[in-house]
Amino acid sequence: MSDEVFDLAVIGGGPGGYVAAIRAAQLGMKVACIEKRATLGGTCLNIGCIPSKALLNSSELYAEARDGLNAHGIKIPTVELDLGAMQDQKSKVVKELTQGIEFLFRKNKVTSIKGMARLEGSGRIAVELSAGGGQQVSARNILIATGSESASVPGLEIDEERIVSSTGALELEGVPGHLVVVGAGYIGLELGTVWRRLGAKVTVVEWLDRITPGMDLEVSRQFQRLLSRQGLGFKLAAKVTEVDDGGDRLLVTTEAVDGGEPEKMKADVLLVAVGRRPYTDGLGLEQVGLKTDNHGRIEVDRHYATSVEGIYAIGDVIRGPMLAHKAEDEGVCVAEILAGQSPHLDYDAIPAVIYTAPEVASVGKTEEQLKEAGTAYKAGKFPFSANSRARATGKTDGFVKVLADARTDRLLGVHIIGAEAGTMIAEAALAIEFGASSEDLARSCHAHPTLEEAIKEAALATHGAPIHI
Ligand code: NAI
Repeated sequence: MSDEVFDLAVIGGGPGGYVAAIRAAQLGMKVACIEKRATLGGTCLNIGCIPSKALLNSSELYAEARDGLNAHGIKIPTVELDLGAMQDQKSKVVKELTQGIEFLFRKNKVTSIKGMARLEGSGRIAVELSAGGGQQVSARNILIATGSESASVPGLEIDEERIVSSTGALELEGVPGHLVVVGAGYIGLELGTVWRRLGAKVTVVEWLDRITPGMDLEVSRQFQRLLSRQGLGFKLAAKVTEVDDGGDRLLVTTEAVDGGEPEKMKADVLLVAVGRRPYTDGLGLEQVGLKTDNHGRIEVDRHYATSVEGIYAIGDVIRGPMLAHKAEDEGVCVAEILAGQSPHLDYDAIPAVIYTAPEVASVGKTEEQLKEAGTAYKAGKFPFSANSRARATGKTDGFVKVLADARTDRLLGVHIIGAEAGTMIAEAALAIEFGASSEDLARSCHAHPTLEEAIKEAALATHGAPIHI
């Protein structure tokens, strides 16, 4: 056992944990990061955001080469899919990025410990090392950043081959004839569109009567129309009641949520994407007297402190959206709080992006949230079909919607569906962070011709004065 005492021991090497570790080291702390996976980066880099974005991009290139280039006067006689090579490319990206974090740890002198951490008491962690044996880690402060795991549906046993979570859906060795997706959220729609573009028939079964709950309803409806046009089938207000995996193909039974006749369909792969839940298994929360709420989340105060002195928690394991960038920013906050600084994170300025084609991105409040809160607001909309750059590139689907306070004109929410929405939303997030008005957005000079001009025009539309429509 070593006598070394760390200023901060971070449990979990995902975007929340590794960023917290680096920031704390930058601020002069002696930091350890304990991670049970062989590679750093957590769900996001290893089996989530990054591999899915690699496959989204590759499958978009494939679909464009197959169907989208004729209109530009480019003829490719035959386009072939080499799924093995596409998967190798994805793995290469993941490998390089996870190695990149090892490099950043060395650069910042963060001690990386590979193993499973268990809380033993205030300031004490027992690690079952991945290489065998154990290690005691002592630290003045502990940060829990253990993330989340896929939620399950009773009766749907994940085998990661035919009944898969996102992990298995990223590793399929062949294009399934028919992919049934349970859950029309971020994962279901991103991965559903990947396999649709690669040739699968895709049916999405969603419990609610709409897709992407929580998203601005008008955007969500447009999103469903565009996805349907790409060939995705939707069964809304429906549930999967049984999956028979005895035969060559799966036999999936669905039923309307409010009852009715069961329907059966054959499928090759079933993707369960019904949300994620905080991951605290084997962490020893009870050992230190930490409780979770009824969603399994660790409760924290404004400064991410748990009820046990010296133990903090961030990311998917606490309240708030399960997004990598939210966890990263919380990690930075904890490191700075420990260093005596006063950081602040504005939860109304955290963007959310679905990386489908077109992308969907939002920041701030939806119209439904504003109505529910009784906030008087004005809305301005501008379609990409009236944006010159969108017309020049043939990507005219979608629109920008700007919501501003009716009295003060302060920006309350921006919602974009369209090509590059995920990149464009940064401008809106920055504006909301700085407390900008819709007029500020409208009067900022936007380069021409760019897609971003649609944001300016939507802001002008909240004042009833868009120029190009
Ligand atoms: P989600 O919460 O986005 O969507 C789950 C969907 O499943 C909801 O529409 C829900 O109504 C539905 N559902 C729940 N139970 C059901 C049932 N029994 N039958 C049918 N439908 C059911 O969750 P998802 O897609 O699994 O993603 C998990 C988390 O990962 C999310 O919190 C998301 O924020 C995050 N994520 C973020 C990404 C991004 O930022 N681009 C990409 C992928 C995931």
